[in-house]
Amino acid sequence: MHYAAYSGFQRLTECFNDALEKHKNIVLQAGSLQDPVGDFETSVANSLKQSPPVLECRFLYDARGSSLYEQITKQPEYYPTRTEAAILQKNAAEISTLTGPCTLIELGSGSSIKTDYLLSAYQSRYTNICYTPIDISANALKDAGRSIIQQRPQVQVVGIHGTYADSFPLIRCASPSLIIFLGSTIGNFTPEEERIFWSDIAQNMQVGDHFLLGVDLVKDTEILDAAYNDKKGVTAQFTRNYFVRMNRELLSAIDLDKIAHVAFFNPAREQMEIYIEFLSDQTITLPALQQSFSFTRGERIMLEISRKFRLNKVMENLSSYGLHPLRTYTDEQDWFGLLLLEKQE
Ligand code: AVJ
Repeated sequence: MHYAAYSGFQRLTECFNDALEKHKNIVLQAGSLQDPVGDFETSVANSLKQSPPVLECRFLYDARGSSLYEQITKQPEYYPTRTEAAILQKNAAEISTLTGPCTLIELGSGSSIKTDYLLSAYQSRYTNICYTPIDISANALKDAGRSIIQQRPQVQVVGIHGTYADSFPLIRCASPSLIIFLGSTIGNFTPEEERIFWSDIAQNMQVGDHFLLGVDLVKDTEILDAAYNDKKGVTAQFTRNYFVRMNRELLSAIDLDKIAHVAFFNPAREQMEIYIEFLSDQTITLPALQQSFSFTRGERIMLEISRKFRLNKVMENLSSYGLHPLRTYTDEQDWFGLLLLEKQE
């Protein structure tokens, strides 16, 4: 696996085409991630200033956070990963036939484990498969890339260490493509963020490109609440890791014994809401910025929303961006949906 940093659209296109030509496996580090600690600090300071405070969930995924999330996906209560994997396994062959040969671009690829069903299906039908995972966690990206190269030496991996936005220019130059966005990660966006996301995506896709979207569906509250409050406490550790990271990288001196994970379904908004709650009065300091923020016992900071969807509404919404459903797949219980969309005029 090679590594290279780049900045700017031009350089990305050059690096990407060069890798393709030489059939190189490479991770390209996006310029937007050049000052990770500074970005984290600015984001935390801006978030804590708001009332109510809302942290940016992408910072949950440092090396430890990404590995805790992998553990979450294996908990018995956390049904989304398993359910989506089964849907993918069953339908990967049809998906690969419907899209034809194309570059596979995956947003928020993490461990890429589920994607292997797709890689297998594309490999059995087509030659010269190029897989482009994009992730905020360099560790997850490198580990996933290595294991794919080992298992499927014929597949070329061109990873992007960056944010979703860093991938938009790539989408433009990699057509024909299938953009893959699994795990209902779209549910982390607020409705406003989601609108911006789809409008950027749709603008960069060419007519005939495809999008594969995984969405977690609205269901009984007890099932949802259990999925985000697993008995083993892995989700709680995942939430608390945000503050572990703040203490380590930003020297924020938070008493980690006095914060608790709180997660529940908000039926009015049809979303899971994940907070930390202060179990005692605390002051969070950001020494490098000479700022501090005081919280009282019982106060909460929101870290994540995970919206739950209704398939008909998702399809209606996406057709307004020229993304038309070719197939919708679900499991027997209708817990999770997978949509294959095609960009039209
Ligand atoms: C990675 C965004 C899909 O919302 O279910 C899981 C993150 N947070 N448990 C989700 C998460 C707590 C997860 N996504």
